[in-house]
Amino acid sequence: MSNPSLLILPGDGIGPEVMAEVRKIIDWFGAKRGIAFDVSEDLVGGAAYDKHGTPLHDDTMAKAQEVDAVLLGAVGGPKYDVLDFSVKPERGLLRLRKEMDLFANLRPAQCFDALADFSSLKKDVVAGLDIMIVRELTSGIYFGEPRGIIEEGNERVGINTQRYTESEIDRVARSAFELAMKRGKKLCSMEKANVMESGILWREVVTEVAKDYPEVELSHMYADAGAMQLCRWPKQFDVIVTDNLFGDLLSDAAAMLTGSLGMLPSASLGAPMANGRPKALYEPVHGSAPDIAGQAKANPCACILSFAMALRYSFDLGAEATRLEAAVEKVLADGVRTADLLNEEGITPATTSEMGDAVVAA
Ligand code: NAI
Ligand code: MG
Repeated sequence: MSNPSLLILPGDGIGPEVMAEVRKIIDWFGAKRGIAFDVSEDLVGGAAYDKHGTPLHDDTMAKAQEVDAVLLGAVGGPKYDVLDFSVKPERGLLRLRKEMDLFANLRPAQCFDALADFSSLKKDVVAGLDIMIVRELTSGIYFGEPRGIIEEGNERVGINTQRYTESEIDRVARSAFELAMKRGKKLCSMEKANVMESGILWREVVTEVAKDYPEVELSHMYADAGAMQLCRWPKQFDVIVTDNLFGDLLSDAAAMLTGSLGMLPSASLGAPMANGRPKALYEPVHGSAPDIAGQAKANPCACILSFAMALRYSFDLGAEATRLEAAVEKVLADGVRTADLLNEEGITPATTSEMGDAVVAA
């Protein structure tokens, strides 16, 4: 069998800086664990625009469709703000998501004990937190028709439409149940079936899909109550599945329970490929951070943890993913911190490369 394949798209700003640290980890897996990846690297975002005049070349798009997983750094930067909308760096990322049809966005909210003090919540509320929000990414109110701003009488009306088909709900629910099977076998589905027909259908379809996963304990919650529960006692959840709009808000809120943007990974999954694994794009939640780019200040952990998600969800290497996450946890516990993880004066922060080296050593 051939090695698992990985396409690396470092992108712009701190993207290449954090990706260089992931490269060290990939090399470590080859040298120390005998796990080799076929790694190819290409351009996306502003970097691709500079070379090809487009934020994602067709050849790169084709490659992304073939590999087992894509790992992306970040795109964008002030240099590109003047560009026409159609060639903006973000369009490269959107094209990847759209053409790979990545309908399930996975956003973990995980609290490393050493960083529990960074949370705005009490330490015992967040210590040990490890939940996963699955957000539907390709449908719902951000895409539904009709939409627009129209004239009605003597005023304007802004219109967006929440629209979900059964098959769209079914596939994201299946992704969430599959995930729950690999985790704590507990899934909470959030909608507003009390006031929205799309929510009623959502609840019905999720309940139907649940019959194929009898081991998973399914619960339903109205999304507004879910928001309250996430702040009150987030550890009651394991996997949460929700629509595009609620997922946008709930995943951002949940992420901040645990602290820094520099620590947050994500995955976007699509339909299973011929080998049974989903199409997948992994990327840190943060952007290209132009304010610190080129200064060796970026925290590489979000990108490293995104690679850990790839190990778990694209390569069936869950134990190795846990090993990598434990290494990050140890480094933090040892007090190695990039500047974004320091709130005291007088401590010299670790550079991007020192942080990566520490993870490799751990
Ligand atoms: P950002 O996430 O790039 O930065 C926000 C703040 O967090 C900055 O102060 C930055 O220094 C800090 N930060 C982010 N990642 C960090 C890390 N790994 N280590 C330490 N500090 C970190 O968001 P911003 O400033 O709104 O956007 C900057 C550019 O990135 C824009 O062009 C934007 O369009 C793009 N962007 C791209 C995304 C992507 O590629 N997925 C997502 C968000 C923004
Ligand atoms: Mg958001």
